[in-house]
Amino acid sequence: MTDTPDTDREALERRKDAHLDVVLNEAVGGGGPSIGLGRYTLEYDALPELDLVEVELSVEIFGKRLAAPIVIGAMTGGTARAGEINRRLARAAAKVGVGMALGSQRAMIVKPELSASFAVREAAPDLPLVFGNVGAVQLNYGVDAGAIEAALDAVSADALNLHLNPLQEAVQPEGDTRFSGLSDKIAALVRALRVPVLAKEVGGGISARTAKKLAALPLAGVEVAGTGGTSWAKVESFRGTEGSIQSEIGRRLAGFGVPTGESIVTCREAFGDRVVVGSGGIRTGMDVAVAIALGADVAALAKPLLEAANESEEAAVRALELLVHELRVVCFCTGAKNVRELRRVNVLAV
Ligand SMILES: Cc1cc2nc3c(=O)[nH]c(=O)nc-3n(C[C@H](O)[C@H](O)[C@H](O)COP(=O)(O)O)c2cc1C
Repeated sequence: MTDTPDTDREALERRKDAHLDVVLNEAVGGGGPSIGLGRYTLEYDALPELDLVEVELSVEIFGKRLAAPIVIGAMTGGTARAGEINRRLARAAAKVGVGMALGSQRAMIVKPELSASFAVREAAPDLPLVFGNVGAVQLNYGVDAGAIEAALDAVSADALNLHLNPLQEAVQPEGDTRFSGLSDKIAALVRALRVPVLAKEVGGGISARTAKKLAALPLAGVEVAGTGGTSWAKVESFRGTEGSIQSEIGRRLAGFGVPTGESIVTCREAFGDRVVVGSGGIRTGMDVAVAIALGADVAALAKPLLEAANESEEAAVRALELLVHELRVVCFCTGAKNVRELRRVNVLAV
């Protein structure tokens, strides 16, 4: 062994002592497998036969290149505060090189003066991929393809998330609950728009029954937004007054829907090589990795990035960088050199 210079040796000693202190004083048991998406983990490979620096996480989606298979999930817009959150998220997404989805643009369709709060490309011209957002049910409430096209153009969206949220609407006394005849209207909308359209849940997931109906439409893909993360029935229950029907039903039905992992597998089967976005409770790089190994092309996170952006743009950057780095480590330790290889890693139910 070569001689260690004094300063290096001191640093090494401090590290060794610190190891002892940590092992002696902290709860260092792993507590079982590092679990992604509730009940899955990935097959660990202690001989990955690749270098960490070789792991290449970039992906192409709708002709746009992302540095990692991650999208900031659809959340907000329409108020000054929402505008500030969107700008922070946009700058963070551009810095890290991931995609960003806007919250429902209905507000700006109804009141064009609210458009500025959605203008993420002005805040971050390098943002690689932007999804617009409208509720599919709005097609039954007077919003047409022309209005949606104008809203998408105003934010230079690369794609549209058309959200499906029957549970959320039904829990609200004032909800838009006329969901009849939507399949034909969605098909007509998709044909009228220039950008690719994805159907998206908001936390209730896409079941096999829904996936079959959606896959028959000319959609470019689907975002599962399954159960296990933010529950919109629950969110709406908190909006109702204590003891009200809204509050009680929202609470009772908070977990109604399809778990995210199951929904990803179902949607991959139904959608073939169209885009599948895994979302709903994605919180860690391991969750992202599991979502991809189960069949997603990219994963989207909403609530954790809202929390970070609410703190600061730097906190949002840090949260994204942490996710990307964790994902890189998981790829390395599963022998996956890139996202394509991650898709082939064995998923283990825990
Ligand atoms: C504050 C907030 C607002 C949201 N608004 C929308 C919306 O306008 N349109 C939409 O499609 N989804 C919306 N969602 C749902 C998210 O896009 C996502 O599908 C859901 O929250 C599950 O992901 P999560 O567990 O990572 O939060 C919103 C989520 C949050 C947290």
